[in-house]
Amino acid sequence: MMTMMMMATITPPSPELPSSKLTSTTTGYLKTSVSSVSQSARRRRLNSTLFCTRPPSSPSSRVFSACSISNLVEEFDPEILVERALTPPSSWYTDHQFYRYELDHVFYGGWQAVGYTDQIKDNRDFFIGRLGEVEYVVCRDDDGKIHGFHNVCSHHASILASGCGKKSCFVCPYHGWTYNLNGSLVKATRMTGIENFSLNEMGLKPLRVAVWGPFVLLKVTREIESDGSVASEWLGSSAGKLSEGGVDSHLNFICRREYTIECNWKVFCDNYLDGGYHVPYAHKGLMSGLDLETYSTTLFERVSIQECDGGSKSGGEDGFDRLGSQALYAFIYPNFMINRYGPWMDTNLVIPLGPRKCKVVFDYFLDPSLKDDEAFIKRSLEESERVQMEDVGLCESVQRGLESPAYDKGRYALVEKAMHHFHCLLHQNLKL
Ligand code: FES
Ligand SMILES: [Fe+2]
Repeated sequence: MMTMMMMATITPPSPELPSSKLTSTTTGYLKTSVSSVSQSARRRRLNSTLFCTRPPSSPSSRVFSACSISNLVEEFDPEILVERALTPPSSWYTDHQFYRYELDHVFYGGWQAVGYTDQIKDNRDFFIGRLGEVEYVVCRDDDGKIHGFHNVCSHHASILASGCGKKSCFVCPYHGWTYNLNGSLVKATRMTGIENFSLNEMGLKPLRVAVWGPFVLLKVTREIESDGSVASEWLGSSAGKLSEGGVDSHLNFICRREYTIECNWKVFCDNYLDGGYHVPYAHKGLMSGLDLETYSTTLFERVSIQECDGGSKSGGEDGFDRLGSQALYAFIYPNFMINRYGPWMDTNLVIPLGPRKCKVVFDYFLDPSLKDDEAFIKRSLEESERVQMEDVGLCESVQRGLESPAYDKGRYALVEKAMHHFHCLLHQNLKL
């Protein structure tokens, strides 16, 4: 059931509520014997085979597999403290049925960051996107009002708009039906003589849309609206800290980079949420720009914020300083990251494309004073690209390991508290 379109500007709440603070300390993994892990993995795969035998596209498969999905969800126990907890089983990262269930319960229920306000700065600006099976278009109409719609023609379901840019109306490329930017159908070609047909009833299906700071949010919801504000739903008590940390609208958009990665979307999130654990081993170049001794993680309701001071390289001999004196890495459940460091902010939107594939959209924003410094921008983007490619390698490696019969569940280190928090939030959304 579609809900009414809504556009809201979110005011960051204040004051901030108390939050827990974790200072990072690394502990060793507790080893689980290979044979017991393998047995557990085999047992789980057998369960999955027994219950999940229909093609994922079959509607009845969702009902058929409810029992096995429930079993998979309950394999992770959020009540167990991180010190003793096991990670979720590998089927959370590999199973087709689980993936489809996850789209419904994790992605279609809450606010999703889908773009930034500069993309719809002027009247008639629009952009499109896809989240799971949801095709959407966001636009600003002739009155300056922001709208979100399912990007699907009411005639025979063709995708209506493509790309981004400016349009005075949306003309379907298939048979020419034409919609206003407010979603109403204004022309249905060659429909003369068709009975019980009303243009008014064939408009685009609306989605809820909102703005917070520089971000455009969208909500695909099948639930009755809660009374909470969009800010409290999306950011909770972290909104004030993000605003104070320089996450705001004064930065200039520089560019977008997209990476398709052969891994489940959660593998990328997990990698982001390990409290800097992998940095000394996998990002040696980045390490010299960060003082990992100062790494800290703060947990909020649906947000975690990792912070770290700049390292020895900060403001080095040649004056190049991409990271600045402090870096802030905010994870907004379930799939959006805001990285604020030095004069830069970049955002990472992790879009699931299947159980073992995702796309990560990086948008880069820079302090206006440096927006014309091409050398600085080029070098910063090259450094960022190198780190990103290192992470791509790590994530694809983990996905292959998750699919191996040798692995089912792992352990957390204390620095990975944000990852554990992420998994607890997932469990909360996924439980039946
Ligand atoms: S599908 Fe859009 S006009 Fe036919
Ligand atoms: Fe990394």
